[in-house]
Order: sequence, then structure tokens, then C-alpha cells
Amino acid sequence: MPFKLSNRLEPLKYAIRDLVPIAKEVEKESGRVIYLNIGDPLKFDFDTPQHIKDALSKAVEDRWNFYSPSEGIQDLREAIAYKERTFNNVQVNPSHVIVTAGVSEAINFVAAALIDAGDEALIPGPAYAPYVNFIQLYGGKPVHYRCIESEGWKPDLNDIKTKINERTRFILIINPNNPTGAIYDEHVVKEILDLAATYEIPVVSDEIYDRIVYTEGVFKSTASLTKDVPVIGLNGFSKVYLMTGWRLGYIYVKDPTEKYVDNIVSHLNKLARARLSTCTPVQKAGVVALRGSQRHVKEMIEKLRERRDYSCKRIDEIPGLSVVKPEGAFYLFPKIDLNGKFKSDKDFALSLLYEEQVLVVHGSGFGEGGENHFRSIFLPPIEILEEAFDRIERFCRKKSA
Ligand SMILES: Cc1ncc(COP(=O)(O)O)c(C=O)c1O
Repeated sequence: MPFKLSNRLEPLKYAIRDLVPIAKEVEKESGRVIYLNIGDPLKFDFDTPQHIKDALSKAVEDRWNFYSPSEGIQDLREAIAYKERTFNNVQVNPSHVIVTAGVSEAINFVAAALIDAGDEALIPGPAYAPYVNFIQLYGGKPVHYRCIESEGWKPDLNDIKTKINERTRFILIINPNNPTGAIYDEHVVKEILDLAATYEIPVVSDEIYDRIVYTEGVFKSTASLTKDVPVIGLNGFSKVYLMTGWRLGYIYVKDPTEKYVDNIVSHLNKLARARLSTCTPVQKAGVVALRGSQRHVKEMIEKLRERRDYSCKRIDEIPGLSVVKPEGAFYLFPKIDLNGKFKSDKDFALSLLYEEQVLVVHGSGFGEGGENHFRSIFLPPIEILEEAFDRIERFCRKKSA
């Protein structure tokens, strides 16, 4: 029997982890690498709040160790509706919520449910890479719409408009954004919704960083603003509740027209059933995360704000780099302007890794619009950021000399 692997996985790439094997080699040869590539707060001085950890142990002791309903335990779906109502002003019916193994699984579900071969989806340029992967996995074409750096990475409405066609199956908003850290103004979100209404296309809104914002009141959930467009909301526990390794997320459908919601939910539920369920004790802990103390969120933002401000100040002092100050999440997306010193942004990232042992992600790994940029996290404590930016500064000064 000839052994053959599928062709379908050929195009899949994940820039955020692609350079890690090289970094491990560099580490063996030239000492400590500072990893600024992965957005995982738990790798630094952030930890899952104790009451959430206790809830997980208790769930296991209380024998919540069975398969849960595929769409998630009812308690959690209700807690998610409560959370969306309380923090995002979104009225969502718990029966329109599906619990997933992280937002990553939610992205897979949404792409599988909406994309057939030859279909297109409009996604930000640059965008969090798994959207590209999962759309391609189902034979679709991710089409990046322009985001305007000089206007705080605001989506270009005209560009979206010119790229909509009869094969466009959804428009994606990532807000707050990864990799740029942008938060979209309410009127921008409304304009995207209006366009979606005109062409009768649903909007998918990834809001995993919804509470990691540095100015209160700026972020508005897409589903809270929709009047006539179905919004498929994606959210999770990894970032705001410091539960990256626990793999818990969710999808909800908010459809003011009520025309499409049942179909979308039942389509998504087919996938949910095909993979049985997500981890039941983790779901029990998720209820406590959403309904219990939220004190850690404020503490996390205070730490991150100081780290963001420090990082932006350092970048502003480095020749050849400039950055739009992020308003949310924990990423910086600086522009590299080193007059042809590098063949590409990947060349920049690799040279920085070899010469100064700092690992960042090349901007083109986030698709169109990411070229000539890199993405760095600002999660580490100031001492580590200081060392990292000293190295980046030395590197850029050498190259610009
Ligand atoms: C915009 C965005 N969506 C989804 C994810 C995946 O999150 P999860 O850990 O819930 O799978 C990430 C992780 O970095 C992200 O930045």
C-alpha cells in the first residue's frame, strides 16, 4: 500500500513558532536567547488566579471527569452569556454559545462551517496567522484588507469594499488586534457592519483581548453594535484569565434578524459533536473564572501598561524603528526602516536572532501588510525587556551605521 500524506496541509505555516527550532540551535551555541515571539503571559510573571486553579482541582475531586455535552456545560454557557452582557454589553442567548478548546478550535470551526473550496474571506492585513491556515485548509482564499498604519492601523473601508465579491463568506475583525495592538473605534466597527449588511455577509469578531485595553471605554464589542448583521463572536480564557494551557474558548452567534442564527449554530454544533466535547473540569473552572473575582485583570493591565510604555519609549530611541503605540493586547508591531540593509523582514528577524539572540516574529508571517515589520510581545518584566531592547538597539545602530 503506497504511503501518502494529504496535500491539504502543504500551505499551512505558523510564523510565530517557525523560527523556534533555529532559536534552540542558536541558544546551544551562543547562550541565552530572549524569546519575544509567543503571546503567552504564563511564561513570565503572570499566573492563573488561585480561585480558578482551586475550581479545577475541586471539579476533578467532585468527579466532573466525564464527557460534557458537545456544545459545553450549561453552567458555562450561561456564565459566558453573563460575561458578554456584563463586560461587553452583548445580549446573547446561552443556547447560541458553543464552548471550544481555545479560540484556536473556534477559528477552525468557523472556517469549516463557512468556507467551501473557492470561497473567500476578508481578513485584516496583517492578521493572526491561523485564520489564513484554517481558511486555506478548507480550500478557501484568505483575502487581506488593508489596515492603515498611519491611522493607528485602522481598517481601510474602501479596500474592504473593493474586495467584496459573490464568493466572500465573511469579514473578520480582530479587535483588539493581534499583531498590531490596535483597537477599532466604534464608528469603524459600525461602518464594517454596514458594509456587511449591504452585501449580506456575516461578520466574525475575534475579541480574545477584549479586557486587555489601556484606555477604558474605547473597545466596543462588534455584537453590541450590530443591528442587522449576524455576528459570530470568538473569545476565550487564555489571555484575560491567564489560562493559555487550559485550552478553553467559545463561539457565540448574535443575529438581530434571527434569520440565520439557528442554521449557523446547528452547523457549528455538527463539528462540536464530531469531536465529542472539550475538557469538562476545565469548563467548571471557566465558570468560576467568569463569575469569580476579576481583580487579577486590573493588576495585569497595570503591569502591562508600564511594560508597553517602556517598550515604546525604547523603540522610539532606536534608529530605523518606529511603532504605533498599541491600545490593547500585549504586542508591538514596529516598522523596520533600515534602508535596504535587509533582504526582507524575515532576514531582519533571523539576523537579530543570530547576532543578538533575540527572537521576534517577522511581520510578513502575518500576511499582506506585515512586510517590513516585526512583532514583539511586551509581556516580560522590565529587566528582561531592558536587556532585549539593549540588544535590539545595538543591532540596529550597527546596521544603520
Ligand atoms: C487574535 C487571537 N485569536 C486567537 C488566539 C488563540 O487563542 P487560544 O489560546 O484561545 O486558542 C490568539 C492567540 O494568540 C490570538 O492572538
